[in-house]
Amino acid sequence: MYPRFSPKFLLMSLCVIASTLSTLAQPATSHTSFKPGGPWLDTDGKHIDCHGGNIIYVDSLKTYYWHGEHRGEPRGASCYSSKDLYNWKNEGVVIRKGDIEVFERPKVIYDEKYKRYVMWFHYDGKQYSVAELGVAVSSTPTGPFVVKDHYRPNGHESRDIGMYLDPETKKAYIGYAADHVNRTIRMVELSDDYLSLTTNDVDIDAHCEGPGILKRNGTFYLLTSGCTGWTPNPATYYTATDILGPYTKHGSPFVGDAGNNSFNSQPCYIFKIPGYKDAYLYMGDRWNGGGRPESQYVFLPITITPDGNMELHWYREWDLSMFTPERAKR
Ligand code: GAL
Repeated sequence: MYPRFSPKFLLMSLCVIASTLSTLAQPATSHTSFKPGGPWLDTDGKHIDCHGGNIIYVDSLKTYYWHGEHRGEPRGASCYSSKDLYNWKNEGVVIRKGDIEVFERPKVIYDEKYKRYVMWFHYDGKQYSVAELGVAVSSTPTGPFVVKDHYRPNGHESRDIGMYLDPETKKAYIGYAADHVNRTIRMVELSDDYLSLTTNDVDIDAHCEGPGILKRNGTFYLLTSGCTGWTPNPATYYTATDILGPYTKHGSPFVGDAGNNSFNSQPCYIFKIPGYKDAYLYMGDRWNGGGRPESQYVFLPITITPDGNMELHWYREWDLSMFTPERAKR
């Protein structure tokens, strides 16, 4: 016996299914620019779910990879790939958080020497009281990443993290929101294989969260947010001639920021775009008061003025043509 459904019931069911499908995927569009805070669909026409993460460029594959928190199910880290930074293909969930209570702010670097991808992330438990760093490894950018370890760096609390791989020295560093619930940021140098930490770990007397780092002409710029959970707040930047400090504190680099909230975003990374002179990409999350999968992204160019100040200006829409291409190496 099969259940009988009325034509009206069937029609209503079809309408519900059709409207659900239409919110899940929209016709794929090709992007030619960044639209900060706007809808951003991947090449399948679905919202990009990749938060609090970072972008790397893998020269041998001539591809950008963006890793970040996959806040939909399954929770963990997602990976998207792109040839132009505007159009992103979903490469899937590259690590599932499984029974890790809190898995946030994954940052990936490519280890050219050992040809592997190392991911560090915020590993935590209930009420963010575990406060550890986790490390995972994969032989491809698209995973699967396997968790190798997790612990407090040199015994210190660690929550939000930023990562910096110095292109000149090949040394890598993690800036982490540290003790007494993110009252300061510490900077720790990684071992040469990027899989563990050294004891070169200093309090750089910066607050608070979302650290992003860039280096220009020998000066390090550290950008941080305040500590107000999913609610945006004014950022602060710091400069130093050594990544381990001492750092000088400056104000917010967001110019004309009427809401005094970093253009309604929280920093997660600064990506040096290869092939362009001084092209620094601010990657920020627009959490909208909660870390939901549909949170948006605020990607903006960072300017270092002739006086050496960091500035971010709002653009409703912009593209890479605002940067000067670097001359090709002979
Ligand atoms: C923010 C932090 C996010 C997340 C959130 C939880 O301050 O930057 O990564 O941990 O708090 O409330």
